[in-house]
Amino acid sequence: MSPAAFCATLLRWYAGYGRDLPWRHTRDPYAIWLSEVILQQTRISQGTAYWLRFMHAWPTVEALAAATEDEVLKMWQGLGYYSRARNLHTAAQQIVALGQFPCTLEEIRRLKGVGDYTAAAIASMAFDVTVAAVDGNVYRVLSRLYAIATPINTTEGKHLFAHLADELIHAAPLTAQSPQGDEACGASLFNQAMMDFGATQCTPQSPSCLLCPFQEDCEAHRRGIVNQLPVKLKK
Ligand code: ADE
Repeated sequence: MSPAAFCATLLRWYAGYGRDLPWRHTRDPYAIWLSEVILQQTRISQGTAYWLRFMHAWPTVEALAAATEDEVLKMWQGLGYYSRARNLHTAAQQIVALGQFPCTLEEIRRLKGVGDYTAAAIASMAFDVTVAAVDGNVYRVLSRLYAIATPINTTEGKHLFAHLADELIHAAPLTAQSPQGDEACGASLFNQAMMDFGATQCTPQSPSCLLCPFQEDCEAHRRGIVNQLPVKLKK
């Protein structure tokens, strides 16, 4: 399937079936960053409640930076992986010291606790940078669509999927319709659509292939190997 056809089908699906999540109503990089850090190891239902509480307590990065670490850890209670909360607080102080939220991929990547995936998610959603945010959802969707059996937890696999996702996102239209009905940046929508498509349609177990808009294009479906992909090496 060509990159342009993939994007057109994905974005059409997203406009109709994308999830309405509160941080998708804002372009505030602080709000988007906060949602990504909370969602790193947390389900949407639980993460949403915490995101709302954090935004209420600390509506700006300056407010979060001025809080004490104890206050931040207390608000984080129940989410686990407490290094995320400590890094969040440290990064808030880094951002305040910079004078504004960094807007390039490289600068965002330098924030404490922000890896490649999170930096790409923030850069695309808050600043319209055309960069693919590659996570487990992306590995799953692309390994199935193109029947790629290269293990995802190898250097070769990581490069291959990152390269493919990058090629695809560059074929996205400049703008398209969001699930909320407004016009938004194609790269931002592409990344959010991949997250939702992987999380709700092309799921690890029992994917909804019968209702899938890519059914006729999916090489894994054609070969009957959807449940064998993606491949992960036991190390
Ligand atoms: N998981 C991680 N980031 C997400 C986001 N922005 N929307 C939905 N699920 C996510």
